[in-house]
Amino acid sequence: MSALFSGTGNVEQGIGAQGVEVTYIGHASFLWTAPDDTRVLIDPYQDPDEGPPWFEKDFPPVVADLAVSTHDHFDHNAVGKVPGFPVLLTGSGEFETPGIRVTAVPEVHAGKCVMPNSLVVVEAGGVKFVHCGDNRFDFNLEAVAAVGQVDIVMVAVDDSQHLMSWDEVWQLATAFSPRVIVPMHYLLPGVVKASSTLLGIENWLASLPDDVAVRRLEGPEITISEDVLPLRQERLDSRQTPEVWVFDSAFAIG
Ligand SMILES: [Fe+2]
Repeated sequence: MSALFSGTGNVEQGIGAQGVEVTYIGHASFLWTAPDDTRVLIDPYQDPDEGPPWFEKDFPPVVADLAVSTHDHFDHNAVGKVPGFPVLLTGSGEFETPGIRVTAVPEVHAGKCVMPNSLVVVEAGGVKFVHCGDNRFDFNLEAVAAVGQVDIVMVAVDDSQHLMSWDEVWQLATAFSPRVIVPMHYLLPGVVKASSTLLGIENWLASLPDDVAVRRLEGPEITISEDVLPLRQERLDSRQTPEVWVFDSAFAIG
């Protein structure tokens, strides 16, 4: 099974062409299944102890080798309930197998809630992701430099601008010069309830610049490799006009 250690490995070796399978569980939770079958789950959720419920159903029994929580809020921290006795990762640290490398870079939660939040880098199948949790947009430059350039950013956004304004979301997401931005943490029928006070993302999508292509994925799973990513633009300012990919969340609904 998995190994937990620090240092460099051969994650890219021999697995780039296969890509990596990514499943949107719902809310801020995604599952990566690496070419060596290592399964990495980020931000399993649960309802709050007090106050209105946020979720239609309990978090599904997703088995994982590594369970990561970006920060200690109920809608991101249910790692203790993940079956299969996964390795747990919170705060900072690294997890690596021959098929996947996960690095948690400590940063800070958005808004007035000053608490730690990790930027979680996932590298597998020749693709580099960063899952931002509920991170702030006015980040520590050293932390963002530690993440570096990525292919895909998962970022919290919704039409209520619950955590950040849309401009702030864009500032955070594009700090990593991604080729693709994946929205998360929004009202999702069958998964996230209206009592969460979150809203959907249709107004945000409509507000995006005209040159940003929006792609709606069919289903909650996609195998991502260089072949399906938009081409990296060769620009002197190293900026990329990212696409936005919206997952279908049928996994958690079904
Ligand atoms: Fe959250």
